[in-house]
Parts: sequence; C-alpha cells; structure tokens
Amino acid sequence: MPIPKVDKIWLNGNYVNWDEAKVHVLTHALHYGSGVFEGIRAYETLKGTAVFRLTDHIKRLFKSAKIYLMEIPYSPEVLIDVTKELIKINNLKSCYIRPIVFRGYGEMGLNPLNCPVDVAIAVWPWGAYLGEESFKHGIRAMISSFHRIDPNSLPPVAKATGQYINSILAKLEAVYSEYEEAILLDYRGFVSEGSGENIFIVKDGVIYTPSTTSSILEGITRDTVIKIARDLGIEVVERDLVRSDLFLADEVFCTGTAAEVVPIREIDKRIIEEPWPITRKLQEKFFQIVRGEDEKYQDWLELV
Ligand SMILES: Cc1ncc(COP(=O)(O)O)c(C=O)c1O
Repeated sequence: MPIPKVDKIWLNGNYVNWDEAKVHVLTHALHYGSGVFEGIRAYETLKGTAVFRLTDHIKRLFKSAKIYLMEIPYSPEVLIDVTKELIKINNLKSCYIRPIVFRGYGEMGLNPLNCPVDVAIAVWPWGAYLGEESFKHGIRAMISSFHRIDPNSLPPVAKATGQYINSILAKLEAVYSEYEEAILLDYRGFVSEGSGENIFIVKDGVIYTPSTTSSILEGITRDTVIKIARDLGIEVVERDLVRSDLFLADEVFCTGTAAEVVPIREIDKRIIEEPWPITRKLQEKFFQIVRGEDEKYQDWLELV
C-alpha cells in the first residue's frame, strides 16, 4: 500500500509540506546507509492520542546514533515535543511515527564527518503491518538462508538504515517463497529474530526468547511483552534457541512496533496447532494497554 500522505513532515527544525520533504540524490545516507531511525506508534486511548513508549524509542535513537558516532543536533526532549506537535498538526488520532537521523549532502566517500547530520520526523496512518488477518489467524514464516548480521560486522542493537539490507534480503526470500515473514538465525546458527520483529516461543507454559547476545534488536515491544507476561505470572526465559525449538513449540509469536503481537502458525511447513492460549492472553493485554484500558501501564502512554 502506498504511504498515505498527511499535511506536514518535520525536517531539520521546520514543519514542511509533505511533498517538499526532499533530500539531494548525493545524500550520504542514500549511498552508504549511514542513518539511524525509529518506528513508533501512537494509539487512540481513552484519554486522547498517546504515543506508546515515546521516550524509550527516542532513547534508542540516541543509542543507535552513539554507535555510529553521529551527533544528533537536537535534544531528546525537543524530538519528543516535535513528535507530539506533528501528530497534532496533522490531526491524527493514531499513526505510525518515523524519526530518522542521517548523514546528509556534503562530501562523498566513506568518511562521513564532513556531511551534515539531518533529522526528520514523519507520521502517517499505518494499519496492521502483517495484515489484519495476522492477529487472529497468525502468519506463515520460513527460516531464512540469510543469517542475521553479527555484532562485529554491524551491531544489531543499533537501528541503522544500512543494516536493513540484511532484513530485506531475508524478507524478499520469504516473499518469493510465498511466506509472510522470515526468521533469521544468528552468526552461530541460533534463532535470532524476524526481518522486523522479535521472536518468542511457548513450551509447557514457559515463554522463551533469544537473549540480547543472539544478534537481536532489543525491541521495545519485546520488553513490553516480557513485562506483561511476568506481571501475569508467566515465566519468561531468555536463552539460545535452535530451529527445532521453533518446530516443536506449543506456540510461536513475534512482536514489533509495526507488527504488534502476531502468532506464527507455520514455520517451514511445521504447523503450530491452535489454540495458542498464552499468545492470545498477551495479545489481548497488549492491545488493552496501548488503548489505555489498563491503569497499571499508564506510564507507557505519552499523551500528545
Ligand atoms: C530487526 C528488528 N527486530 C525487532 C524489531 C522490534 O522492535 P520494536 O518492538 O522496538 O519495534 C524491529 C522493529 O523495529 C526490527 O526492525
């Protein structure tokens, strides 16, 4: 689906018209992937529009920038305020939010230090990333022949634009193989994550998920789901998983800001039989929380 246009995008300190938010073709990041970004969602809640864990996302943006030695020319507070203002200006009740910090137009070549650091934030309405049906019926996934980037090549903890070429290779392989999503193994051969989601399995009532040493992006939805599960009294263990753990799991699901919480019903032709009770419980709780229907988690909702 084409990105639905809204009125304004924030670019380097100005609210500009959607069609005028442009960069030069010799922008450094376009050639070398030298950018860092975030994916965030705002939901309509009982108290008005609220951005889910906005401060945590902006903190992760600064961590990504630190890894790539990029000095963001705005404070986290400014980016938080701008995000809220932008949602208001565009009259959105719920939306996806895409902040991006990138090496701009200046010099060509691999030393980026003489290029400006440009910053933009865009917002637009974006429904279910893996399709409306994904929440109820789950998706079909394959284990990719492409491994997830390893920490000594490209730090997976950074959400950097160039790193997503790895995810794109895996996603294309999945799409051409008629699967909805790819699951990547890490450089050691253990389960890492989906092309844009973290992965969980449930076995005998316990939730398992790869730890931060399995080349994952430390997902904010992953952290959310771990906290919700523990609050519900469900044990969560972070540990190495092998592909047969996926095949033999009672339940498998993935989490991400774009995807939200989605069951996986098949992996490489191995069926994960319904009813997936723990996934259902976590999905239900997750959507209650983001819609502001659970007082206990109000701190995660940052009203615009
Ligand atoms: C590679 C990858 N893993 C995991 C995630 C999930 O992270 P989050 O829950 O913070 O959106 C994302 C999405 O940003 C991602 O791109």
